[in-house]
Amino acid sequence: MDIRKYLKGKKEYVDKALEGILPSEEEFPKNLHKAMRYSVFAGGKRIRPILVIASAEAVGGRIEDVINAACAVEMIHTYSLIHDDLPAMDNDDLRRGKPTNHKVFGEALAILAGDALLTLAFDILAKSHNKAENALTVIHEIAKASGSMGMVGGQAVDMESEGKECDLPLLEYIHIHKTGALMLACIRTGAALANASKKQRESLTRYGEAIGLAFQIADDILDIEGTKKEIGKTVGSDAKKKKITYPSVLGLNESKDRAKELIQIALDAVKDFDDKAEPLRKIAGYVVERKG
Ligand code: IPE
Ligand code: IPE
Ligand code: MG
Ligand code: MG
Ligand code: MG
Repeated sequence: MDIRKYLKGKKEYVDKALEGILPSEEEFPKNLHKAMRYSVFAGGKRIRPILVIASAEAVGGRIEDVINAACAVEMIHTYSLIHDDLPAMDNDDLRRGKPTNHKVFGEALAILAGDALLTLAFDILAKSHNKAENALTVIHEIAKASGSMGMVGGQAVDMESEGKECDLPLLEYIHIHKTGALMLACIRTGAALANASKKQRESLTRYGEAIGLAFQIADDILDIEGTKKEIGKTVGSDAKKKKITYPSVLGLNESKDRAKELIQIALDAVKDFDDKAEPLRKIAGYVVERKG
């Protein structure tokens, strides 16, 4: 199968669904809705919603049953990017190839657009699932992955570690939490909504943990080796802020080796799955081979 084609098709499906979920720019308060839509539709890869879909499909689920959850994780991810770019955090000016949200709308509206996207995500998660108990499962899963025990916790330690000496356990903590947790939740959400068996969920959890960490290692590498055009962000932003990254702690080559090892772990985790897991296998490779 052609993974580029697969990713493109699913991205279009997700974009269409997001279009229907986000309040229109004509809806009051207009500037807030404009700011929310600006970052959501600035052109992300949609890898997290695609993970929800691919995970569900790997165990026989249908895209229709997971699309709301898929849109919810993209809204949470976009909120995290808007806040991550703020002057008080990474202070970045470019995101998804465009000026960052606070550059266009100001800091106050950028903070509020992030808050509103996070809240809208849970609104969407709470409704229209095939089973009410599935909605509760995924709300719990995604809340846990997004808060202080997940992404926000990772972001807090990322910020307080800037410019400091860092050992491997702390580096892993940061990456597993700021990025890995939500990606793992995407995989587990797809599996839960598709009613995967306990064994399938365990395998998918190992897959999700591995690609989640690998994705952030690749992001760190792209901050050094990528181009502005490809990554849609400022290259060298991490070094400028003395961020704790895989390359800064382990060096570039060892970081690349570690990312490849993790992809092998992800592939091994789903080796007993049938052809329906082919997209997940291809996505694992894409996570480290991507240029943007
Ligand atoms: C960037 O995520 C931030 C990280 C957690 C590494 P993506 O690389 O998925 O960004 P978009 O959504 O495609 O813009
Ligand atoms: C971002 O990590 C993680 C989250 C947004 C939760 P980075 O700070 O490395 O992401 P980029 O490089 O700005 O996209
Ligand atoms: Mg950051
Ligand atoms: Mg950043
Ligand atoms: Mg980065």
